[in-house]
Amino acid sequence: MSSVPAPPSDTDIELRLLMEAIYLKYSHDFRDYTGASQKRRVLYALTQLDLPTISALQDKVLRDPAVFTRLLQFLTIPVSEMFRDPDYFLALRRQVVPLLRTYPSIKIWVAGCSTGEEVFSLAILLEEEGLLARSRIYATDINPVSLEKARQGIFSLEAVRGYTANYQRGGGQRSFSDYYTAAYDAARFDPALCADVIFADHSLATDSVFAETQFVSCRNVLIYFNRQLQDRALGLFHESLCHRGFLGLGAKESIDFSGYAGRFDAVSRAERIYRKAT
Ligand SMILES: C[S@@+](CC[C@H](N)C(=O)[O-])C[C@H]1O[C@@H](n2cnc3c(N)ncnc32)[C@H](O)[C@@H]1O
Repeated sequence: MSSVPAPPSDTDIELRLLMEAIYLKYSHDFRDYTGASQKRRVLYALTQLDLPTISALQDKVLRDPAVFTRLLQFLTIPVSEMFRDPDYFLALRRQVVPLLRTYPSIKIWVAGCSTGEEVFSLAILLEEEGLLARSRIYATDINPVSLEKARQGIFSLEAVRGYTANYQRGGGQRSFSDYYTAAYDAARFDPALCADVIFADHSLATDSVFAETQFVSCRNVLIYFNRQLQDRALGLFHESLCHRGFLGLGAKESIDFSGYAGRFDAVSRAERIYRKAT
């Protein structure tokens, strides 16, 4: 006897319709994000926006772009840290930097850069390794509010003080405070770190490759995508990377179950750093 799948709940139907409406109206494609965490975030947004149902939210989103911008802050999880998961940066220093050094110029793509903490961390690492002057970083995200914050390079002083231990565990060679100026409760990072960083709107769900790169770092982003969208993103990274270029996904993500498993060699299994094989 063939089992008939249970019909979707009313909430799941509303959620799908909301994502369809957002795509049709704003061209932001959230249709292939994992359902459970997306549902949690939308239900939380309802409480914050004081709306009774997802259908009511859809109605507002369609008529008011400002409501969509607010919803985007819930949908995109703009959470980051400097030198987040320090072992990743240690692995980059030890296993990737020696090979990046062999390139006359280095292009790096930080996909899903959020508010910029990962970009500043990489810029500091490259500076300490003597590579920043010949590096260009493309830092991309779909959230314009996050990108603007990243461009400013100003973070809460309390949070930045908390990142000092991460920096040291990630192989930091100086005093972390060398990189920022403190004023009241804010830390402004040295703008020279971002002299060749291009912050840009780019979606892994709908856009295509824009540059050839030697290293792509995309951490804590693919976990929100279903298998099909993960494969799309990995396809973009594969296409962007030069022959034997590096891909860093961080400990929470992997290419093991994707269509790209055989197309990369592992450089650091723990930190999920790979090198393009074919
Ligand atoms: C949790 S943050 C990760 C930030 C940073 N990479 C880190 O690990 O600290 C996830 C980021 O992915 C971005 N994102 C979500 N969907 C995206 C897409 N389709 N294309 C590009 N970025 C996306 C979000 O806007 C958010 O800034």
